[in-house]
Parts: sequence; structure tokens; C-alpha cells
Amino acid sequence: MDGRLEPDCPAPLRRRMRRLRRTGAMRALVAEVRLDPGDFVNPFFVVPGRKIRREIEALPGNHHLSVDEFLREVDDVAAAGLGGLILFGLPERKDAEGSSAWDPDGPVQRAVRAAKERCPDLLVLTDVCLCQYTEHGHCGLLAPDGGVDNDATLDRLARVALSHARAGADVVAPSDMMDGRVGAIRQALDAEGFTGVAILAYSAKYASGFYGPFRAAAGSAPAHGDRRGYQMDPAAGVRQALAEVALDAAEGADMVMVKPALPYLDVIRAVREACCLPVGAYQVSGEYAMLRAAADRGWLDERTAALETLTAIRRAGADFILSYYARRAAGWLRDGT
Ligand code: PBG
Repeated sequence: MDGRLEPDCPAPLRRRMRRLRRTGAMRALVAEVRLDPGDFVNPFFVVPGRKIRREIEALPGNHHLSVDEFLREVDDVAAAGLGGLILFGLPERKDAEGSSAWDPDGPVQRAVRAAKERCPDLLVLTDVCLCQYTEHGHCGLLAPDGGVDNDATLDRLARVALSHARAGADVVAPSDMMDGRVGAIRQALDAEGFTGVAILAYSAKYASGFYGPFRAAAGSAPAHGDRRGYQMDPAAGVRQALAEVALDAAEGADMVMVKPALPYLDVIRAVREACCLPVGAYQVSGEYAMLRAAADRGWLDERTAALETLTAIRRAGADFILSYYARRAAGWLRDGT
């Protein structure tokens, strides 16, 4: 050292970063992101029947609920101040085209009606896809060659979205990854006067290993093959995600989503910067299961680790998060972090 300092370089230890970390009040003042229960959307799995409340083995703390039992949860979600809830359904019967997905008396449609009646101000989202409803478990109709027939599927997805809108859904969220589905759904909704129903597009949805617990819960694992022909390749990365987002925005998506969340923080950040629509992220079943399993073994403190992942997803740029931690996180935030 020759003894010279850069002119703007403070004297050693004049600047102590630790001052800003000294107390909770100080840390709160300088926080760049905050978690709020209103950022979280809670998934629910509704099933046919009555008085059914079965814990889902691969998603501890989550249940298969008949609509009457689901309604008991609705008050809780509203009281927790959550941003909303998203519904997935398990049908009574499956067929080749997934026709029970647009049954006006299906579990999702009944749950939407009941939730909106009970709590009109609570935001109700629905997942729009065919995989829980088709015998083969794919997200669209099968072509003779065994692949998924993109264009023939669009009309079915529009029927599903319409049936949810008729039941009173605020937001429909297509998760199938067919090309053109946002435009097809927007057109169908508008043609029936549902101009106020919003579309949350699962725009950047990757063919992920982290959906395993969900597929067990929803009975939606493909009977043959996989979803790599329509969901994004994890290695395709950011540029393809931006192309998906641009198309969905052009087709009329009101909000876009990245899924999964934690392994794709770079994608969330890139989408946030490239697009002015609200950006959601889905902390998927496998992300939840990892944290739960480690916590059950005493290897992680669940509250600390879960809130840290939610903070990371917000920090990456997500405006809201679909998460199986939604309600517990709201409770943790209420008790103070
Ligand atoms: C249906 C759908 C899936 C998820 C949400 N909607 C499964 C899949 O694409 O196989 C995954 C959610 C989760 O893992 O929590 N298409």
C-alpha cells in the first residue's frame, strides 16, 4: 500500500454495514421487499361427494375436500387476508377428451359458486387444464399419432374457462401450455359477455420434476409419455420464457406466471423486467414437499426456510405467489417474523 485512498473511499470502518442490521426496527426500515398475506394465493383440491376431508399424503396439511368442507376453509382464507384461492378439481369420471372439466356441476364449478356466494369479495381463481379429466392424463386431446393435438384442444379449454366464468370465477388460469390458448379463451369469454373475467396465463411453465406430489394429489400423471412436448424445457431458459410471455400478453393475458418458482428465479426476474403485466410465481408441490420433508426430519426450521423462499421469490420480482404455505405464512407474518 502506498498510503493513498481513492477520494470517495471512506476511512476504514467509517461505514459499518452492520448498523443497518442491528435491530428489527432498523432491518424493517431498510427492507427492499416485504411479505404480505395479500401476496399469497392458496391452492385447494375439490372432489365430488359430501363431508369428505382427506389429507393428501404427498402434500401434508392439504386435503381433498368436498365442496361443503371446502366452504369451511373459505372463511379462514378470507380472515387470513390472503390474496385469493385457486381451485383444482378431481372429477367423478374421466374420458378421452376430458369432458367433465366443463361440467357446470363439477366440483370446481360448484366450489366457485359456493365460495363467491359465501365471500363475494374473496378473489377466486381456477386452474384451466384437462389433465385431471382425461383418461390418458395429458393436458390436451390426443392426436392419432399419440401426441397432443394443440389446435383441437383450444376449443375444449375455452369451454372449461367459460364454465368457470359462468360459475363466477374472477380469474381463469390456463396451465396446459397449448399454443394460442389465451387468445381462444379470451375470445370465448368476451363472446359470452365475460369481459371482466381476467386471464392469468401460466406462461413460462417448465416440464418440471417438482410437480410429482401435485400429480399424485390430482390423479393427473400422464398414463404414457411425459409433458416435454408441450411444457418448456428447463434448459430453454429465459429467452423462450420471454417469447411465451410476449405471445400470451399479445393474446390478451392480464397476468402472467412463472412455474415452478425457486428453481426459476432468473426467469421471474427477466419476465418482471421485460413485461409490465403483473407477474405471479407458483411455488409448486415439490418445492413445498422438499421443505416439509426436511423440516419433518428436523433438518430445517420450516418457518425460517419457507419465509426465506417466499422472500426470494418476491425479491426476484413476483408480485404474488401461489403457495401451499399461503395460510401458514400469513399466520407466521401475523405473529411477527
Ligand atoms: C395441471 C397443473 C399442474 C400443476 C398445476 N396445474 C401439474 C402438471 O402440469 O403436471 C402443478 C402444481 C404443483 O405441482 O403444485 N396442468
